[in-house]
Amino acid sequence: MSYYNIQGLKLTDLATQFGTPLYVYDADKIIEKISILRDSFQNVNLKIKYACKANTNISILKLMRKHGVEIDVVSPQELQLALLAGYEGSQITFTPSGVSFDEIEYAAEAGTRINLDNLDVLEKFGQKYGNTKPALIRLKPHVFGGGNEKIMTAHPESKFGISIHQKEEILEIVKKYDIKIIGLHQHTGSDVKNADAFMKAATAILDIAQYFKDLEIIDLGGGFKVPYQEGDSVTDMKEVGKVLTHDFLEFCKSYGRELQLWFEPGKFLVSEAGTFLANTNVVKIDPIKNFIGIDSGLNHLGRPMMYGSFHDIFNASNEDDSIQENYRVVGYICETDTFSWTPEGKQGERLMNKTKAGDVIAIKNAGAYCFSMSSQYNSRLRPAEVLVLDGKAHLIRERETFEDILKNQVVLDIFDV
Ligand code: LLP
Repeated sequence: MSYYNIQGLKLTDLATQFGTPLYVYDADKIIEKISILRDSFQNVNLKIKYACKANTNISILKLMRKHGVEIDVVSPQELQLALLAGYEGSQITFTPSGVSFDEIEYAAEAGTRINLDNLDVLEKFGQKYGNTKPALIRLKPHVFGGGNEKIMTAHPESKFGISIHQKEEILEIVKKYDIKIIGLHQHTGSDVKNADAFMKAATAILDIAQYFKDLEIIDLGGGFKVPYQEGDSVTDMKEVGKVLTHDFLEFCKSYGRELQLWFEPGKFLVSEAGTFLANTNVVKIDPIKNFIGIDSGLNHLGRPMMYGSFHDIFNASNEDDSIQENYRVVGYICETDTFSWTPEGKQGERLMNKTKAGDVIAIKNAGAYCFSMSSQYNSRLRPAEVLVLDGKAHLIRERETFEDILKNQVVLDIFDV
């Protein structure tokens, strides 16, 4: 795959055909990542549950389903999207955080597998369903792992899961209502590059697992780190696969039953598949810095401004690297709106091929948590989305229109007199 095209389709042609700003997803890349994950866990009964919060486009969900990937959802609306994509309730895992019991009931009635993440909900679940509906418990293993503190979920102060130190309370409630706990779950965080963090979390879960008699599943969440630039250190999947497979199979042997091993990756499956295309509105040559101003902003791709994330950026219209300049790539939102952050998490500049107004700027790693976190801030329209499949570009979401901005506004006419 060349830098400047996806499956032979030039990025600049896609920008012309569908307009900018535009999200483009490469189906081949998603399929390749599914295979890498499967290959790393060949010797266990593996189930991949795509954490669809990363990208909920229904066509992406259908692609996952076609390739045997099941799904993890966090809200009733994601659940509905999964059903629309053709998933059966039993293929859907519901892993919410701090939701009302109504949502738990909704997910239970839909036949999903629910990760219960606090003692109060466990108790209510027991009162309502006893042993009639199987459930999983989300544990907090007290492990540090993740790219930054906003996306670390398993450390002692995290709001997620029931602390492993509350084992006795959990077991008491499970016994009291005879709840059928078929699985234990943990999710360490996102952008976890350190294989050690996965091992520590897995060990914590497997240690406690022996106290539950009905287990069928160990769910170790997602969080595998992907490369954001050349040479970036990432989760070593072979290493994680080797060590976890060994520990997991040992556990199954001592438990006396072959369990399923689940993972819930989001970024790992879709981040690298996405490229975001925007048009250069202005090139501002300034005494201090040069800016490239594109027809987008943190409203469309918020990861840099929200987490200081590094995304590779290049000029898709100019392949000639004989003249390069340092540019700060910025958006049109009326506050500091920088896309070009340094690997150290600071706003910065990128050395890019000479850029002029009208050039198409491409931002990589735009498949996960980009469109799904977009908004209409500054009353801007959300971009269109395109999936490249078997060398053909398919529109999978229309660009918004002004009608979408007006939708749901209730305009009072009492001010019109
Ligand atoms: N499972 C659970 C329970 C999760 O909470 C998450 C992500 C995942 C799986 C998938 O994690 P992944 O494999 O995608 O790292 N918006 C942030 C990431 C938030 C992740 C939230 N939970 C970002 O753009 O970096």
